[in-house]
Amino acid sequence: MGSPDAIFGVTEAYKHDKNPKKMNLSVGTYRDDKGKPYVLPCVRKAEEQLLKMNLDKEYAPIAGIAEFCNRTAELAFGNGSEIITNGLNATLQGLSATGCLRVGAAFLNSFFPGKKVIYIPNPTWFSHTSIFKHAGLDVQSYKYYKPDTHSFDFEGALHDISKIPEKSIILFHACAHNPTGVDPNLQQWTEISQMVKKRNLFLIFDMVYQGFASADIDNDAQAVRLFVKDGHKIALVQSFSKNMALEGERVGALTITAASKEEAAKIISQVKILIRPMYSTPPLHGARIANHILGDPKMKADWYQEVNGMANRIISMRAKLRDNLKKEGSSKNWEHIANQNGMFSLTGMTPPQVEKLVKEYSIYLTSNGRISMAGVSSNNVDYLAHAIHAVTK
Ligand SMILES: Cc1ncc(COP(=O)(O)O)c(C=O)c1O
Repeated sequence: MGSPDAIFGVTEAYKHDKNPKKMNLSVGTYRDDKGKPYVLPCVRKAEEQLLKMNLDKEYAPIAGIAEFCNRTAELAFGNGSEIITNGLNATLQGLSATGCLRVGAAFLNSFFPGKKVIYIPNPTWFSHTSIFKHAGLDVQSYKYYKPDTHSFDFEGALHDISKIPEKSIILFHACAHNPTGVDPNLQQWTEISQMVKKRNLFLIFDMVYQGFASADIDNDAQAVRLFVKDGHKIALVQSFSKNMALEGERVGALTITAASKEEAAKIISQVKILIRPMYSTPPLHGARIANHILGDPKMKADWYQEVNGMANRIISMRAKLRDNLKKEGSSKNWEHIANQNGMFSLTGMTPPQVEKLVKEYSIYLTSNGRISMAGVSSNNVDYLAHAIHAVTK
C-alpha cells in the first residue's frame, strides 16, 4: 500500500468522524460563513448562460481555448501589457496549477539550457518537490521563513539566492505563500528581482491565490508585473481553483515569456508535443466558465467583487480567531494569525499539539500546524479558539 496523501488523506479521516463539531482545516478550499462549499454567483450565472448556448463537447485544441488563454494572461500581466500586445507570451490552458507546473517542468527538463535544478522555498506547498522530481529535475531549496517571528526571512532568502549556481531555476509563490501566509513586500521583491538577475536564474511564478492576499486581483499580480518590467523571462502558472472556486474543474494556464513572437510560437509547439501523450487535450467546461466571466465586463467586475468578499471574510476570521484566543486566556502571541495573508495560517502548533486537536476535538489539519482559514466561519471560530488554546497552554 502507498501512504495516504498528506492532505486528501486527512480529509478521508475527517469524513469518517462522527463528531458534529468536526472541522476540516486541511484542504485549501473556500467555504462560506456557514461552512458550506461555495459556488460563486458569477460562476452559476456563467454556467446558466453557457447552457443556453448549446455548445458542443468536441475536443478542445491541445493548447486549450485561445480566448481563455489571452484573457487569463491579461489578468497576470495587466491590461495593455506589452508582453501580450507584442505576442511574447506563450500561454496554454492546462490542468490547473498542478498540471501546468508538471507540464512547465517537463518543458524545462527538455529545453532549459542551464542546470536542470530548481530551487523552491523552504517551506513550500506539499507537491512542489514531487512534481519537479517526477519531471526529472533536481530539487533544492532556499530559506523563506523565520518560525520564531512567523515572518518572511528576507535576509536568509536573499543570501541563499546569492549562492544559487548561475543558470539554475527558482520558484516563487507570486502571492499568499502556502503554507506560511507571508510574502515579500514590494521593496523586497525589487531586491530579489535584482539578485535573480545577478545570478542569471530562470524563474517560475506559481500564482494560485491571485486576489486572496490583498483582496485585490490586480494588486496581487504586483510581483509578476515587477519581474516582467525588470526584463526577466519567466514561466507563470495560474489557476482558477481558488479565486473562482473551480477546484474540481481543473482550470489553469501556463505561460512562458519569449524574446520574440516567433520564439513564443516555437515554445507553444514544443509544449503541445509534451502535452499530447500526457492528457492529450484539456477539459472544456471550467475554462469556458472562466473565459465567459473574463470576457464580459459586467461579470468580470462582479467577480472582482466576489473575490474581494471571499478574501475579506477570511481576513475577518483571522482577526476573530486571534481575539478569541486572547479571550480564552492564552498568554501566547497569536498576532501572526491576523497578519498572515491568503488562505492559510502556519500557526506554529507542533505535531503532538496537532494530534491532540484531531483526537480530542475532531479538528483536522496537516501535521505542520497549518490551518486553512477558508474553512473557519462564524459558527466554528469560537470552538477552534477554545481547542487551540486547550492544546497549546
Ligand atoms: C502554491 C500552490 N500551488 C499549486 C497548487 C495546486 O492548485 P490546483 O488546484 O490549481 O492544482 C496549490 C493548491 O493548494 C498551491 O497552494
